[in-house]
Order: sequence, then structure tokens, then C-alpha cells
Amino acid sequence: MTTSGHPQRRTDLAELETLAVELAREAGEFVAQRQGGGFGVDTKSTSTDLVTDVDAASERLLRERLAARRPDDAFFGEEGTIADPGGGGRCDDPDEAITWVVDPIDGTVNYVYGIPAYAVSVAAVVGDPHRFGAWRPVAGAVAQPSAGLVFHARSGGGAWVQDADGVDTPLAPTDATSLELTLLGTGFAYREDHRRRQAEDLVEILPSVRDIRRGGSAALDLCSVACGRLDAYYERGVNPWDIAAGWLVVTEAGGSVCGVRSPRPSAEGIIASAPGVHDALVARIEAATRASGGGSGQAQARR
Ligand code: IPD
Ligand code: CA
Repeated sequence: MTTSGHPQRRTDLAELETLAVELAREAGEFVAQRQGGGFGVDTKSTSTDLVTDVDAASERLLRERLAARRPDDAFFGEEGTIADPGGGGRCDDPDEAITWVVDPIDGTVNYVYGIPAYAVSVAAVVGDPHRFGAWRPVAGAVAQPSAGLVFHARSGGGAWVQDADGVDTPLAPTDATSLELTLLGTGFAYREDHRRRQAEDLVEILPSVRDIRRGGSAALDLCSVACGRLDAYYERGVNPWDIAAGWLVVTEAGGSVCGVRSPRPSAEGIIASAPGVHDALVARIEAATRASGGGSGQAQARR
């Protein structure tokens, strides 16, 4: 017991955050260095859904490091690496079970085209990340190697961006209060039918906001909300690895995050914003997605 009478926490969230920063930075530097040397490109769910051999190598690197440093934790990576040495039974207590949810390159299309908006996302989550609504992040980091930056957060610890010299600066969202003046980021699925529905949503939403941005990395879009480069971001059909770290970075920065028609991000999507515009944005997006039939279902469909 501690002097305050509470049981001693065995999982130190600050340690998880430090590890996430270290590994996201290392994997980020690895993928940036491989970008110059040539890499193989293949496709996954559709002909537009790209994967490189660097995605797989980055995921392997992260898995190896985590297996060495946190052998009892589970692992869930975008490129198919799933490990659960604890044998399942994931629960909502960080003292009991942590799963590392990892996107080895988020923004793979940008990476292939040489556009700097790609990232490595590393998050420690509790609950079951294989079921939307059943998990939440407790620590995480998003590295943007092209800028030498790592965005990071842990529950209760605030949100920060670390520069290439290791200097941390606190993050805060914009003070936006008007939906009409909201700069809104979004993203699109790889499947044609999902994209059609996403485009139908935008027909309803675009006239109501300042403008739309499509950055090409969900993880960086969330960090952009956290640091005020976007007022808001929403996307239907994201996957856990796209959002796990960025979700926490937004909430710890003081922003708001929810799903579409659910308190937590779900298979229906994620809505993240500056707090002053959240209610109006959620209402607009929920009305728009009803108008276009609801549900995009990209999430998890890629497995
Ligand atoms: C994609 C990016 C993109 C988002 C897609 C994601 P990937 O991840 O985050 O911005 O719109 O939904 O799948 O395929 O580059 O790892
Ligand atoms: Ca991704």
C-alpha cells in the first residue's frame, strides 16, 4: 500500500508512455531511412490499399522490441501480428492486461508517393481491441519522422509533442466554437462502396463547415486536432491501429472524442474536435450519416 492508502499501481503509465515514444521514434526513423533506399509495394484489401515491405519490417521491429521489454503484454498490429502471451481475457485494468496496438506505417499511400504525412503509431490499451467499444488507450505515441516529431500522451498526463532534440511542448486544441468556421479533416476507406457512402456524407457536411482537409494519415489527423492544426477530424470506418494513440493525444490535450452514435469510437467511425465545437459537429455528422444510410464498415473488414 502507498501512504495514501491506495494499492501500489504495478503498471506505471509514465513508463508505458516513455516506451511508446522511444519505439515510435525508432520505428519512424527506420521507415524514413528505408524510404530512400527503395522498397517493395503490394496491395491488400483492394487495388488502392497499399502495403510495402517496410510496413511489415516496421511491425516486426516493434513486435521484437515489445516482446523483449514487455513479454507479458499482448500485441495487435495492422499487418497481422497478433500475440497474447497472457492467453486472452483482456480486461479494463492496466494492472492486469495491456495490449500494444500498433500501426507500423499510417499513411502508407503518402509514404509510397513521397508525401511527408505518414506516421508510426504505438499505443498501450486496456480492454479488448478486437471489439470496438470494448477498449481504450492508456498511453501512446505517434511519430512523424519527416518532421522529427513524436506526439504522445498517457491517461491523466496531458498531451505533448517532442521535437528531434527531445524537448516536449504541451498541446492544446483550437478555441473554435462555430461549426461554420470549423476546419475539418477526414479520410476515406479503400473499398468503392464505402467511399461512395463517405462521399454522400460529405455532400451534407461540406456546406456546413469552413473547409475539408484529407491528410492521408488518421493518426496525424488526430494529432492535428490535438495541436490546433485542425479544428476537428472525423472518419467512418477507421481501424483500432489508426486511432489508438491519436485518440488519447486528443483527449489529453483537452479535445473531445466519441464515435458516431456511440460514446467511444466504433466501427461506425470517430469524431474528434476542439471542445467548443463538438456537440454541433456530432449532431451534423450524425444527421448526415443518417441521410446517407449510416455505417461504412471498413473497420476490421480488412482482416
Ligand atoms: C489509412 C490512413 C488514412 C485513412 C484510412 C486508413 P493506412 O491507414 O490512416 O488517412 O483515411 O482509413 O486506413 O492504410 O495508411 O495505414
Ligand atoms: Ca493505418
